Amino acid sequence: MITNQHIPIMTNEILSFIDKEKKLSILDCTFGGGGHSIKFLEKGHSVTAFDKDDHSQSIANKIKKDYSNFLFYKINFKDIDILQIKLKKFSFIILDLGYSSNQLSDNKIGLSFKINSNLNMNYLGGNLTAHKIINKYSKVELERIFYTYGEINQASKLAKYIVEQRSIKEINTNFELIEILRNSGVNFRSKKIHFATQAFQALRIETNKELENLIIFLKKVHNLLEVNAFLAVITFHSLEDRIVKNYFKSNKVKKNKSFENSKNWGFENLTKKPITASNSEISENNRSRSAKLRVGRFIN
Ligand SMILES: C[S@@+](CC[C@H](N)C(=O)[O-])C[C@H]1O[C@@H](n2cnc3c(N)ncnc32)[C@H](O)[C@@H]1O
Repeated sequence: MITNQHIPIMTNEILSFIDKEKKLSILDCTFGGGGHSIKFLEKGHSVTAFDKDDHSQSIANKIKKDYSNFLFYKINFKDIDILQIKLKKFSFIILDLGYSSNQLSDNKIGLSFKINSNLNMNYLGGNLTAHKIINKYSKVELERIFYTYGEINQASKLAKYIVEQRSIKEINTNFELIEILRNSGVNFRSKKIHFATQAFQALRIETNKELENLIIFLKKVHNLLEVNAFLAVITFHSLEDRIVKNYFKSNKVKKNKSFENSKNWGFENLTKKPITASNSEISENNRSRSAKLRVGRFIN
């Protein structure tokens, strides 16, 4: 049986950008549990979807039986240009970044600090694992990822402690890592979140190359957008959100319609401030509390 625990985020807010009368050709770059894709299909839109996840592929295979206007490719969205020749342009492209609830509860992936599992954290099927990072990266590299991706002020102290501990014994599981974080003497930032959150975020971002994937994707996505198409991106942490915000800013179309990037294309920014989930959505789906939605209209 194919299980699906993922609840799609800000569905109404996303649909509010789509003219009810129109049937669009939509590219869902982060299919996950298919929540957004199904909403689009139910409204009569055509959907092409990507995900690197095996479980997503199984869900997609099931959906294909019900909808003839649905295609699924098991690819990393940074490789959109591989398919460019075969694919037409799209009138709505969506990214709902990060990992799904299905992946969070999968102990083979091991993203959760509540479930003990082998150190992995790779949810995109790549070769890099948190085990390799923790046990093989140099002190300098560890410090870099904890500082840059975890925003941990005492990243150097943490990296030094991990290097000492792994010389005594290889660090193999999430719970072993949590014990090391606990004993490191590092003052983790927030009292509101679990003390391991920042370190886990850093390892997950590095393992899956999350920021690189997004940056590469944004460099190519204009090739797949129709004139007046929407690009909608949901982010879950400030590092991703900054990249998306700066992308729309540096490619914005000015009032006189001269293009800032001299490429003859740009975006009208439709969300000066990012849209966040309503209180009622947050009370039903805690995951939505950190989500930020930014949308731009492609001008060419
Ligand atoms: C937050 S979930 C998306 C949930 C989906 N919108 C839904 O409503 O069910 C993010 C999904 O994006 C996928 N993903 C993240 N980065 C990816 C990438 N670079 N290439 C392909 N898929 C990616 C993950 O595997 C995960 O399934």
